[in-house]
Amino acid sequence: MTIPTRHAVVTGATQGIGLEAAKALLHMGWQVTLVGRNSSALATVSANLKQPDRVTTRVADLSLLRQTRKLGDDLLQAAQPIHALINNAGAYFNPRQLTTEGVEATWALNHLSPFGLTQTVEPLLRAAATPDNPARVVVVSSNAHTMAKKPPRDDLEFAIGYKAMQAYARSKLANIWFVREQANRWAQTGNPAITINAVHPGIVGTRFFRGNGFFGWFWRTLLDRVAISPAQGAQGLLRLATDPSLAAVTGKYFSQITEKEPAPLAKDAFLAQQVWQASDKRWREVTA
Ligand SMILES: NC(=O)c1ccc[n+]([C@@H]2O[C@H](COP(=O)([O-])OP(=O)(O)OC[C@H]3O[C@@H](n4cnc5c(N)ncnc54)[C@H](OP(=O)(O)O)[C@@H]3O)[C@@H](O)[C@H]2O)c1
Repeated sequence: MTIPTRHAVVTGATQGIGLEAAKALLHMGWQVTLVGRNSSALATVSANLKQPDRVTTRVADLSLLRQTRKLGDDLLQAAQPIHALINNAGAYFNPRQLTTEGVEATWALNHLSPFGLTQTVEPLLRAAATPDNPARVVVVSSNAHTMAKKPPRDDLEFAIGYKAMQAYARSKLANIWFVREQANRWAQTGNPAITINAVHPGIVGTRFFRGNGFFGWFWRTLLDRVAISPAQGAQGLLRLATDPSLAAVTGKYFSQITEKEPAPLAKDAFLAQQVWQASDKRWREVTA
């Protein structure tokens, strides 16, 4: 019996942690769909990988929810089951920016986009899953979630008192709420054929924070003193996407390759439920 090639979709695959995760999956024999916002960067990365039969590229600006939705719809149209969806793309925005859809950019890219993409491609995850080997969703969060304060219910997008690091921390806290609430929801359907987990990749030497003025430079310079390589940073994502011993693990938070308790606020099930519902509403109103 031949085992069909496994297929991963990796967002933010043009550089940094996402690119290294994609390379490692190719090395393990997977087919990989690379998602990026810049078609020429994607073409260059794809050519460098020298695996034309196993690499597909898709262009989407994931800070725009309609483009995220279109990406999901295009993947549905292509009908290739997804064994692992790695929601990795993310950024830090200083100062506050609204997207052309009127959504605060950090919340849109780091939280609403992985939320909506996961919902949209759920049929392809179900199509890939078997009872012994569920499909897997990985959401790249951050230890920065521990810095987040409880958000006001009516201002998740930080219209008042925006602080870039707080907005980033909030989006990464929302990643963990999403993972925990989504795992509960799938468990309640009695068909938990998809697992979903969040991961902090470590402090990683990438271009993250660059291009954000003094504070971006400050954070990057500080972090570079202790950073691990992007390939090391990809290890946690890879373990969650591929390790057979984690096939039944869902709704958890990992720091690199080790399961860890997230901050107490991240374990607030009521807030997780409220933010899931608010995110679903926001996603639907923007992508309708
Ligand atoms: N580096 C760290 O120390 C660290 C720590 C904790 C968590 N993280 C998380 O790890 C993830 C990856 O970060 P990284 O360090 O690898 O950063 P990076 O090198 O800046 O890579 C980010 C990736 O996301 C893509 N991206 C950014 N905005 C996008 C958009 N609007 N639409 C589509 N793709 C977009 C980038 O594409 P372009 O090539 O077009 O820019 C790039 O491929 C992020 O979620 C980040 O929050 C990083």
